[in-house]
Amino acid sequence: MNKLDSSLVTAALAERGFVLTDKATEADAVLINTCSVREHAEDRVLSHLGHLRHLKKTQPQLVVAVIGCMAQRMGETLLAHEAVDVVAGPGQLHEVPELIDKAMADHQKRMHVLDNIRQPAASEAIRDISERLDAFELAYDSDANHIKSQAFIRAMRGCNNFCSYCIVPYVRGPEVSRAPQAIVEQAKKLAGEGIRQITLLGQTINAYRYTAGDRTYTLADLLEQVSAIDAVRWVRFITSHPGQFDPSILQVMADLPKVCPYLHIPAQSGSDRILRAMNRGYTAEGYIELIEKARATVPELALAGDFIVGFPGETDEDYEATAALIRRVRYKNCFVFKYSPRPGTHAEKKLADDVPAEVKQERNAKLLEIISEIADQDNQTFLGRTLEVLVEGPSKKPHLNKAENEDNPQLVGRTKHDYIVVFNGPESLTGQFVKVRVTKTAALTLFAELVA
Ligand code: 5AD
Ligand code: SF4
Repeated sequence: MNKLDSSLVTAALAERGFVLTDKATEADAVLINTCSVREHAEDRVLSHLGHLRHLKKTQPQLVVAVIGCMAQRMGETLLAHEAVDVVAGPGQLHEVPELIDKAMADHQKRMHVLDNIRQPAASEAIRDISERLDAFELAYDSDANHIKSQAFIRAMRGCNNFCSYCIVPYVRGPEVSRAPQAIVEQAKKLAGEGIRQITLLGQTINAYRYTAGDRTYTLADLLEQVSAIDAVRWVRFITSHPGQFDPSILQVMADLPKVCPYLHIPAQSGSDRILRAMNRGYTAEGYIELIEKARATVPELALAGDFIVGFPGETDEDYEATAALIRRVRYKNCFVFKYSPRPGTHAEKKLADDVPAEVKQERNAKLLEIISEIADQDNQTFLGRTLEVLVEGPSKKPHLNKAENEDNPQLVGRTKHDYIVVFNGPESLTGQFVKVRVTKTAALTLFAELVA
């Protein structure tokens, strides 16, 4: 979601004549788009600001903007920082170019952050921005060297779930779904420009709902409409919440070949006690039933998840329940996070952060080991198989079978199940769908050769 926001702001700035530069020393303005999900992410921003404060001593004209969730969470504090000129929350991203222009002209500090982001008026403001900013076609992606063949489209903003540990509902505000026509129009335009894979984004994408007249559109409807666009080959969506996961989504996945058989569906924990304290709204058994149903409906469904270790009160037994759930589900890959208390959340206010740092670290490492062992075993079943991949471009960190020569560098692609495949081939294949045969497997990567 943050990557998309950065691209949208970049596109809005480009419209005003700004161009990207890699070096702060060459820049007129530095923007930091921020994440508040864990303390570590915020600490890194503060350390960047320290560097920028130094830089400003030799470059006094430099304008520094802090945008996104951290701006929303701690606006005044950031504005008071010596290095900062502009502070803009996730609901004000459309105003960023104007704020930068003004700051470049007069070097006054300015802050634009929605006061009551969860009030109905704020929802309306956010809906408005959704349309002004989200409709930008993304001519910019994070790596300009890659031919663009895929794009993200925001389907909805915000979250209403209030998981007890999570800052998102407070900084990104309430759920607001975009109109299906706007999303489909955008997808059509992008497809016309050569985009072949579209990923629909939302914090809880399965909660997508849009009512127009007497009809309510759901995620299943949206997937159907986007996959009806001829030039679009693959459609994905992230992230799903396991509570109230409508079976119609699985049916669409099974019926429509363009809808990729991949679900990122975080369980967070395998202990019912912890799940309740997290306010997740399901039990471990309920989660597993959903996964079994999903696998029965969608052949070769690939699953990914998130887990938090060291949530307040997590015992060895709770941790073991999480490990057991992982062993039952057998994910393709998972992200594991150490619990980080976020100011203002229920967990931070009411529950002591009582799992020692070493225990969090140990559980984190052990879970990753289990996840990797499972993926390593399951990936071996791909050996010798021919798979279709969408080529993303040259590998940024060449793996074992290194690039042989200029005409045959190591390329990275992804299957529709989101498996990462590495193989050698001409760079001109970037953005195309090709067939590859798997010659070697590892926990996170499949190695392959091009099939003529
Ligand atoms: N501490 C640690 N991890 C967190 N996440 C969300 N909030 C926290 C927190 N306070 C994790 C969840 C979520 C992912 C994006 O970040 O696993 O799915
Ligand atoms: Fe945070 Fe829970 Fe919403 Fe995900 S569903 S963004 S974890 S509150």
